[in-house]
Amino acid sequence: MSEKSLKQQAAEAALEYVTDGMKLGLGTGSTAVFFIQALGEKVANGLNVICVPTSIASHKLAKKLKIPLTTLDETSKLDLVVDGADELDLELNLIKGGGAALLREKIVAAASDHMVVIADDSKLVDPLGAFPLPVEVIPFGAAATVELMHAAIKNAGSKGAVALRLLPNGKPLITDGGHYIYDCALGSISNPKQLALNLNVIPGVVEHGLFIGLAQVAILATKDGIRKIEL
Ligand code: 5RP
Repeated sequence: MSEKSLKQQAAEAALEYVTDGMKLGLGTGSTAVFFIQALGEKVANGLNVICVPTSIASHKLAKKLKIPLTTLDETSKLDLVVDGADELDLELNLIKGGGAALLREKIVAAASDHMVVIADDSKLVDPLGAFPLPVEVIPFGAAATVELMHAAIKNAGSKGAVALRLLPNGKPLITDGGHYIYDCALGSISNPKQLALNLNVIPGVVEHGLFIGLAQVAILATKDGIRKIEL
């Protein structure tokens, strides 16, 4: 079974958590696209939901599918966000941001009562860290921020290269919020909570891709069917 069809299965299984009248957060990435498409079909068939997308890309797709949209300014509390992840562990700590949408994803997750993660089972790891940790950084003084990030990483017991994410044309990727992404190739993260705290106190760091204590459910598609992790 292809990775794509596993992602689709996980995304469609998440519809079980959606009920009429819900306020939903819509994630970003290829797995979230399958969820938004499946939700769009339900909406076309009469499901009543209102949604906050976590990126310009997800906003465009949801709008095209005529999914009713709102913002966190109009609707500050959501029932549920359904989103993908780059990595997750059994405690449902996540690495996100491979699609550069981690800031809006984390804001929406924090505004949601529940977070359901959808992924193929290759994303389940122990420990986190083979996937480079994305950190969103203000362009002003970025080199100084990166120095502080190295110290924060060392203090949390990890180490590795920190690289500015570039576009294929060699220019820095700019996020929906107007910031850079630095990818931290740490190999393994022995203390995700400490690393998250250390990065959070650096002034030039807007946010990082460690999502700790935000997700309650993971729906993982395996070649043998759906596996759920529920906290
Ligand atoms: C975007 C994300 C995505 O959820 C993550 O990159 C997973 O993407 P995909 O579903 O394409 O594997 O965090 O910022």
